[in-house]
Amino acid sequence: MADLLLGQVLSFTDDPFAVGPEAARHDRHGAVLIENGKIAAVGPADALRAANPQARITDYGQCLISAGFIDAHVHYPQTAIIASWGKRLIDWLNSYTFPEEMRFADRAYADEVANRYFDLALAHGTTSMCSYATIHPESVDAFFTAAQARGLRAFAGKTCMDRNAPEALRDTAQSAYDDSKRLLQKWHGQGRLSYVITPRFSPTSTPEQLAAMGALWHEYPDCLMQTHLSEQTDEIAWVKDLFPQSRDYLDTYESQGLLREGAVYGHAIHLTPREKDRLREAGASLVHCPTSNTFIGSGLFDMGLAQSLRVGLATDTGGGSSFSMLHTMAAAYEVAQLRGQALHPSQLWWLATIGSARALHAEHRIGNIAAGLEADLTILDLASTPAIEQATRRAETIWQAIFPTIMLGDDRAIRATWINGKESRPRR
Ligand code: GUN
Ligand code: ZN
Repeated sequence: MADLLLGQVLSFTDDPFAVGPEAARHDRHGAVLIENGKIAAVGPADALRAANPQARITDYGQCLISAGFIDAHVHYPQTAIIASWGKRLIDWLNSYTFPEEMRFADRAYADEVANRYFDLALAHGTTSMCSYATIHPESVDAFFTAAQARGLRAFAGKTCMDRNAPEALRDTAQSAYDDSKRLLQKWHGQGRLSYVITPRFSPTSTPEQLAAMGALWHEYPDCLMQTHLSEQTDEIAWVKDLFPQSRDYLDTYESQGLLREGAVYGHAIHLTPREKDRLREAGASLVHCPTSNTFIGSGLFDMGLAQSLRVGLATDTGGGSSFSMLHTMAAAYEVAQLRGQALHPSQLWWLATIGSARALHAEHRIGNIAAGLEADLTILDLASTPAIEQATRRAETIWQAIFPTIMLGDDRAIRATWINGKESRPRR
């Protein structure tokens, strides 16, 4: 049976970084028609009701119906160590991250955290995510099993590390290749799941391991490849020591076949002009992780790059300090302000939906409300707390009504999510 959702509908017909807020379409009394898990139509409520008298109606009143949020870079195994105090990147990895990731050798623990992570993500309105697992193949199975049970479009891969990590978290170039290939063959393209080739970052991979990942990617060119790039200055100096032959950080990947379309680099803050040019020429994607970049003290991403590159938005849980893509949009706004740019709410919303979908090369499936796309939606109450309600009381435009939820909102703003055409109410 078809479903007809009524509410204020926000969708995009263009890119607000290219054309401004006119890129968005807002129907105050709008409707979304869902059939067989897909969006069949979007438009004014009256017209869609008249044309679809048999459809089952869910009326969300004044709530906003949006494409679901897409978190383009997360570490689900770091769910339990979110908000750990006082460290910068390398110390933070050694003190908090690696000890926690060791626990994922235990499949039962991996299952428990994967399920907890997905419950939190959905409660925050995130309907798709691209995650790093740990080096343990079981951690990939736990992630995809939990995603599949919820019908999510999800992306992930085994994190590969063969140096500069504790013994229990090290694989080898060969075992990383073998395990990644087996997991890729098992999960890639299973329903809504995609395997992502995942060397953690150059400091924890030998050139041999990066080359093995490059060889695997060459065999499976339609996969994505994700890693970290130029997040902190100390890390960049370390990469320079570890790879004396390389021109720069990006070159440590490029020289091993890990730079082309479908490469998804997290953070990418301290880029040289050469790196920016090569990223553009290659058509790579960047993922902005603003709560992480302030929380771990990494730096201020250059949003000007969104003019010429695919840029997505992400929490980077648990280096990031929130599961919420609303908080993440707020942090992106504040970071851009520190660089002298006021991102428009349409740009922030676009980054959290289509921007991330484009970064993951999935914009033909998810990230917008348009006929033919998969029906992953997030329904938001734009007056979810007294503070937000009073700030929106005099709103005259949709952007004035949305911006307080971006800046002050959290999981309390999420009324429901629809995954693949089915409603799921958040567990609280
Ligand atoms: N660089 C390498 N690994 C990580 C990680 O787990 N989190 C963040 N923020 N940066 C990284
Ligand atoms: Zn990361």
